[in-house]
Amino acid sequence: MGAYWIEGGSPLRGELCIHGAKNSILPILAASILTGGVCELHNCPRISDVEAALQILEHLGCRTEAEGQCIRVDTYEAVSRPIGSAMTERMRAAIIFLGPLLARFGRAELSYPGGCALGERPIDLHLMGLRHMGASCDSGEEGVSCTMEQPRAGVIALPYPSVGATENLILAATACPGETVICNGAKEPEILDLVSFLRCCGAQILVQGSVYRIFGGNALHPCSYRIMPDRMEAVSYLAAAAATRGDISLTNVCPEHLTAVLHVLSRGGCEISRGQGKLRLRCDRLCAVSPIRTAPYDGFPTDAQAPIMAALACAKGVSVMEETVFSNRFLHVPALNDMGANIHASRRYAIIHGVRKLHGAMVEATDLRGGAALVIAALAAEGKSRIDKTEHIERGYQDFSGSLQSLGGKLTME
Ligand code: UD1
Repeated sequence: MGAYWIEGGSPLRGELCIHGAKNSILPILAASILTGGVCELHNCPRISDVEAALQILEHLGCRTEAEGQCIRVDTYEAVSRPIGSAMTERMRAAIIFLGPLLARFGRAELSYPGGCALGERPIDLHLMGLRHMGASCDSGEEGVSCTMEQPRAGVIALPYPSVGATENLILAATACPGETVICNGAKEPEILDLVSFLRCCGAQILVQGSVYRIFGGNALHPCSYRIMPDRMEAVSYLAAAAATRGDISLTNVCPEHLTAVLHVLSRGGCEISRGQGKLRLRCDRLCAVSPIRTAPYDGFPTDAQAPIMAALACAKGVSVMEETVFSNRFLHVPALNDMGANIHASRRYAIIHGVRKLHGAMVEATDLRGGAALVIAALAAEGKSRIDKTEHIERGYQDFSGSLQSLGGKLTME
C-alpha cells in the first residue's frame, strides 16, 4: 500500500503533457480481441487498470507487449475462458470483455466486479441489450455467463445512456449481420474513440448524436491506433492549479472535451486560454460556483466532481454540487473536512462553504477520483499531509506524484 507526503502551499506552475485516456484504452484493449491479429496502440497510459486489462488478455491466450506508451496486442490465439473474480476485482471495467468475447466466440463468462465504493454497479442494461441481439445470459450470484449462437441485428433503446453498456453493445453488434441501431446511447468522447478504433479495423458504424448504427457481420482486421488524451487527468491538474492559485499549461489535451468543466472554472474566476491541443489556466483565488450538477456527456462529468470539489473547498463563497450519476460518490468529503473544509453532504447534494485555508492532515484515499481530490486539497493546504492507499490513485494516473513535482508540488512517495 502506498502513501504520499505532501507539503502544501506552493502554487503549481509549468507545463505538462497529458497521457492517453484510461476510459478509452480499456474498451479498445478489449476490442482488439475482435481483430484476431496484432494491434499496435500508441499514447497508452501506463496505469494499474491497463496492467490489469493486459493480464486479462494474457489469460485469454493473447500476447501483449508494452514499451513506453506503446502496447502491442496479438489476439490471434485468443480463446474464451471464464474471467475469475481475482481479475475482475482488479479491474472493475472488466465487464467490457463481454461484448468482444461474445462477438468473436459466441460465449463469455466472467465474475462480477462486485459492488464498488461508488455504490452498486448493476449490469442490467448490458444484459438487456445483449439479449436483444440474441444472446442468452445467465446471471447468477457469482457472475454472468452468456452465449450468442445466432447474433441478430435489431433496434435497442437504452433507458439510460450507460457508458459501459453502450460500448459493450457496439462491440457485440459488430458480429450481428445487418444493421443494429442503439438509441439513447452515451456520447462520451471515449466511446467515439472506440468507434474510431473499430472503423480503423474495418467496422462500419454511423453515429448521429446518441444513436449508433452498426453494420455488422464482417470480419475486422488489426490496426495501429493512437489513444485520445485523458480529459479527467487534465481536469485534475486544472483543479490543482485553481486550488493552489497557480498557472499551468497542458499539452496533448482536447479542450472541446472539457467544455462543461472549463465553464465552471472560468465562472469561478480562472483565466483560461485554449489553443490547438493546448490549455492554460491561471487563477488567483477561486470563487464559488453554483449549482453544479453531474450528468452524462456533454454535462458536467461525475469523474470531475471530486477534484473540482477539492478546489471549491478553498474558494470564496458557497457552492452546491448535485451528483446524479452514481449513488454514493461523496466518499472523499469526510477526509476533505479533516483537512479543514466545511462541506455538508447528503446522498445526492454537497454544500461546500469555501474556507480561507485548508490544513494538512492524515487521510486515506477511498477511490480513484476521490483520492485525487485529497491530493489537490493537500497541495493547497497549509502544512503537511499524508495520504494513504494511493493505489486507488495509481489505477488512473500515470506518475501522478512525478507530474505534480514537475509543476512545483512538494510531494514524496512512501
Ligand atoms: C464509465 C467510466 C467511469 C465514469 C462513468 C460515468 C469507464 C471505464 N468508466 O463507467 O469513469 O464515471 O462511465 O461517466 O469508462 N447503470 C445501471 N445499469 C447498467 C449500467 C449502468 O443502472 O447496466 C448505472 C450505474 O449504476 C451508474 C450509471 O448507470 O449509476 C452510470 O454508469 P455507466 O455510465 O455504465 O458507467 P460505467 O460504464 O461503469
